[in-house]
Amino acid sequence: MKGILLAGGAGSRLYPLTLVASKQLQPVYDKPMVYYPLTTLIEGGVREICLISTPHDLPRFRQLLGDGSQWGLHIDYREQAKPEGIAQAFRIAASFIGSDPVSLILGDNIFYGGDVFTRAFSDFQGGATIFGYHVQDPERYGVVEFDADGRALSIEEKPKAPRSNYAVPGLYLYDNEIVGIARDLKPSPRGELEITDVNVEYLRRGQLRVHRLARGFAWLDAGTSTSLHEASAYVQTIEKRQGIKVGCPEEAAFHRGFLSLTELKQQVDRLPRCEYRTYLESVVVEAERSGH
Ligand code: DAU
Repeated sequence: MKGILLAGGAGSRLYPLTLVASKQLQPVYDKPMVYYPLTTLIEGGVREICLISTPHDLPRFRQLLGDGSQWGLHIDYREQAKPEGIAQAFRIAASFIGSDPVSLILGDNIFYGGDVFTRAFSDFQGGATIFGYHVQDPERYGVVEFDADGRALSIEEKPKAPRSNYAVPGLYLYDNEIVGIARDLKPSPRGELEITDVNVEYLRRGQLRVHRLARGFAWLDAGTSTSLHEASAYVQTIEKRQGIKVGCPEEAAFHRGFLSLTELKQQVDRLPRCEYRTYLESVVVEAERSGH
C-alpha cells in the first residue's frame, strides 16, 4: 500500500503563524506536526509516500523530510497549485499511485493509541476503509451514520443537522478504484473535490468499511491556535508520564523493520545533542537489552 500525505491548504486559521511556516510544519510540542501523520503511515507499514503541498511550502518539506531514506522510506513530492479539495490529491498523485492501493492521511491529523490502524492496514483487502470517531461537534466534519448492526448508512460533509456524533477522521484506505473515482468527481457547491464524495461512492458500490474507533483512542485536530496548543499539551502529558515519544518516525521505522538496529544507530549518531537524540539512544539501549 502506498501513502499520500496531504499537507497543503491555506492555513489561514493559524495566521500569523503561517506567514513563516505552513500549518503542518508548526511544532506540536517537540516535533513538527507532519511527523505525527508520517509516523502513522510508517506504523501502517507504508514505505512509499507522496507528500503534496503548495508550491510555496514544498521546498520546506523537502528540507525537513528529504527523500525519506533516513527512515527506510521513499518520499516523492507533488505540488497542489490551489487548495481545490482533498480528493484532488488522487489526481495529482495518479502516476505515483500507479496500479496500487493507496492510503491518504491529512497532515494536520494526529492519532494516538492502540494498534487499530496498523491492523486496518494489514487487514485491507480492497474497497475502502475509513473510521468513525465520536466527537462533540460533528457538524465540523464528515459525519457517518450507522444502522443497528454497525453498518454505514450515510456519510455527509459538514451537515447542519448531523445524523450521528461520529466524525470521519483524516485517514482513508482505498483500492486502486480510487484513481477512476477521483478522476470522475465533480466539484461540490463550495468548489472542492470532496473526500466525502469519494466515500459516498464506495458506500454506493457496497465497498465501504467503517471502523468505529474505541473510546481510549485519541484523534487530535491541530487546525486552530487553541487546538494546536491543546494537541501540544496532550503530547507533552503522554510523553512525560510514559517516557515514550509520540510521532517519532525513527522509532516507528525501526519497530516496523524499515531500519535495522545498526541503521538506527547510524541515524542517532547524525543527530545533534538534544532531548530527541537522548530518547532515541534509550530506544537503542532497550532494543539491545531485549536482544533485538
Ligand atoms: O479532519 C477530518 C476532516 O477533514 C473530515 O472529517 C472531513 O470530511 C474533510 O472534508 C476534512 O474537513 P476539513 O474542513 O478539516 O478540511 P480542511 O479544508 O481543513 O483540510 C484538511 C487538511 O487538508 C488541511 O490541513 C489542509 C489540507 N488540504 C485541504 C484542502 C481542501 C490540502 O492540502 N489541500 C486542499 O485542497
